[in-house]
Amino acid sequence: MRLVFLGAPGVGKGTQADRVAARFHRPKVSTGDLLREAVKNKTPLGLAAKSAMDAGELVPDTVVIGMVRERLAEPDCANGFILDGFPRTVPQAEELAKILKAAGTRLDRVINFQVPHEEILKRLSGRRSCPRCQAVFHVDFAPPRKPGLCDRCGEQLIQRNDDRKETIEARLRVYEEQTAPLIAYYDQRRLLSNLDGSGSVESVHERLTALLAGFGLT
Ligand code: AP5
Repeated sequence: MRLVFLGAPGVGKGTQADRVAARFHRPKVSTGDLLREAVKNKTPLGLAAKSAMDAGELVPDTVVIGMVRERLAEPDCANGFILDGFPRTVPQAEELAKILKAAGTRLDRVINFQVPHEEILKRLSGRRSCPRCQAVFHVDFAPPRKPGLCDRCGEQLIQRNDDRKETIEARLRVYEEQTAPLIAYYDQRRLLSNLDGSGSVESVHERLTALLAGFGLT
């Protein structure tokens, strides 16, 4: 099961990637999570990435590609993975194809999550994230059991720097300009499936697993 989850910020890629990872015992590889971890640990990569992330811009391809190449070489990715938030540009997609080809594999499916614009804004503005374990909540749609605290590790939840209104707008613009071209890219390669990402987390998950099952991905 080698999957890419594609879609605008806030469509629910990360939420569904967590669920698919747990259900099918494949690792979720989220470039956003890897970059936030690097920023938190103040590694050279994190320090270089921080200003782009805070502004809602993309981190340079070379940085992200190197990070993904290393991560996919780890043993837990040998039998598959769910890529969440990568690739985000055509050069990233081309490099991913090369990495997989060199490893004698290829992508099985690219899932393009589709959610109306107003719903995306509601999801992003109410998101709360755990800075320690990266768990994701929503003040209305997925509230933590104890207000403001992570269900998994008890840490105080935060609002991501890039979930502020002005940065959300920048991220959506960057998505349209730099990432949306991947829809045609993967469609031409017959790898793309569109998925209606609206409705509850549970109903999207059922739709997604049915779609994957249709391709023999179980
Ligand atoms: P990243 O972390 O990847 O952010 P993103 O793509 O903008 O995606 P999000 O995490 O915002 O949204 P999501 O689709 O995962 O939604 P979620 O499941 O959380 O990237 C952050 C930054 O890192 C980028 O801006 C860039 O700077 C850099 N970066 C990362 N990858 C890069 C790359 N490849 N190249 C260059 N730079 C890169 O859901 C959102 C909210 O909605 C949550 O609160 C959730 O609880 C709620 N929710 C989810 N599903 C539902 C539902 N069905 N109903 C109601 N609420 C729901």
